[in-house]
Amino acid sequence: MPVQFRSGECIPLEMHKARIVQKLNLLPVEERLRASQEAGYNTFLLKNRDVFLDMLTDSGTNAMSQAQYAAMLNADDSYAGSDTFYRLEEAIKEVFGTPFFLPAHQGRACENIISQTFVKPGQTVLMNYHFTTTRAHIMRNGGTVVEIIKKEGLEVTSEEPFKGDLDIDRLRSEIAAIGAGNIAFLRIEAGTNLIGGQPVSMENTREAVKIAKDAGIMTVFDASLLSDNLYFIKMREKEFANKPLLDITQELGKMFDLTYFSARKLGCARGGGIITNREDLYNAMIGLVPLYEGFLTYGGMSVREMEALAVGLRETLDFQVIEQTPVFVEAMAKELQAIKVPVVTPAGGLGCHVNAMSFCEHIPLEQYRSGALAIAAYIASGVRGMERGTMSEVRNADGSEHFAEMELVRFALPKRVFTLSQVKYTADRFAWLYENRHLIGGLRFTFEPQVLRFFFGRLEPVSDWPQKLAAKFRADFGDSL
Ligand code: F0G
Repeated sequence: MPVQFRSGECIPLEMHKARIVQKLNLLPVEERLRASQEAGYNTFLLKNRDVFLDMLTDSGTNAMSQAQYAAMLNADDSYAGSDTFYRLEEAIKEVFGTPFFLPAHQGRACENIISQTFVKPGQTVLMNYHFTTTRAHIMRNGGTVVEIIKKEGLEVTSEEPFKGDLDIDRLRSEIAAIGAGNIAFLRIEAGTNLIGGQPVSMENTREAVKIAKDAGIMTVFDASLLSDNLYFIKMREKEFANKPLLDITQELGKMFDLTYFSARKLGCARGGGIITNREDLYNAMIGLVPLYEGFLTYGGMSVREMEALAVGLRETLDFQVIEQTPVFVEAMAKELQAIKVPVVTPAGGLGCHVNAMSFCEHIPLEQYRSGALAIAAYIASGVRGMERGTMSEVRNADGSEHFAEMELVRFALPKRVFTLSQVKYTADRFAWLYENRHLIGGLRFTFEPQVLRFFFGRLEPVSDWPQKLAAKFRADFGDSL
């Protein structure tokens, strides 16, 4: 919650206290350099013991509440028909107002089931913007993704409050051009991840869903990042300023034919689920749950996580709980902007997104600006972020590189995990890195997987720039870690 100091400065105050803590290690810069080499210069391959602040993602790393931990002890361990399932189902009905629920072990498992069931070869899926795993599943089933994000969505700095919104005119023209019969579904992603955790507005969502429904096109909502998006709807759309979060969530839940989410994000547990208002869609998908996930009353989730999720979903309706991440992201973005580090604005949810396109403009695009910045930031700070740029893209059919529209490095702020001083430390080290950005060089793949290459691809620097960066750090910071 933002509070004002006597000086007039506003700071985000942590509205929780730590009662279980995890000790952290901050390795000396030479050790960070060694860890980078061992990890093939890919932050996904770093060992967490070598990381100081793990800002890779919030997926499965959000802090859980004491009520969530307490609920875990009440879990009913049964393969079929456990009380835990019925409690979770009840919570989902209560929060989203939808009648049908299928459990799955995480968000991409939902995407697998949805894509296998509804995407036919040659069909198109329209969406505001893709997420990596979403697109991979659609493509695997022979589908094509067409993104119809409004133009401000791809502008790094903007005043637009809802950069995740769809371009409504383009939605109409794409439907006319492609033909409704060739469109598998329209997918809207809350808190649009890859463009910087940017929200969609209720107004735009209502309009887009109506157009799709009028054309007879199925509508799908990815609610993984709903928590942050709810905050922005309440803060930025007048109509909702005084509306309870439950009303907003239910309006969304009821509006879409189908909603799915990663519970590693929404609900601060580990799992996922598909919910729907339509029995025909439920029946179309039901067979794949036991095939890929587990029996219908657990879907690959541990019953303890399911209990935690039921509580976590209800806690998502508490404004004081959901505002914590966005106000911290904003504070971090402000710290970075104050020292001229280029970041995505307006600050969104999920994390602070640094613009590698301009930070590393001296690096050729085919040498992965975002990937290089992510590993350089680790060497400079021990903080682990995630490449969200060309490395996360898929090569063109002829093998040439497909350059991402945005080159970002995301520093995620898992919910209620880090403190303000840790955020300030991060900003300070990044300021140093920005001053020394000419020392950052490019990367090239030494091992490049075909699918989702960013996860476990290995790279090497094009020169000895990581050594030079580490040496400069040592020279500037003396004995300090
Ligand atoms: N949809 C969105 C919008 C996501 O952000 C994610 C995951 C998924 C689907 C897939 O869910 O991981 O449970 O299988 N995002 C994570 C991230 C990986 O780091 O942003 P999952």
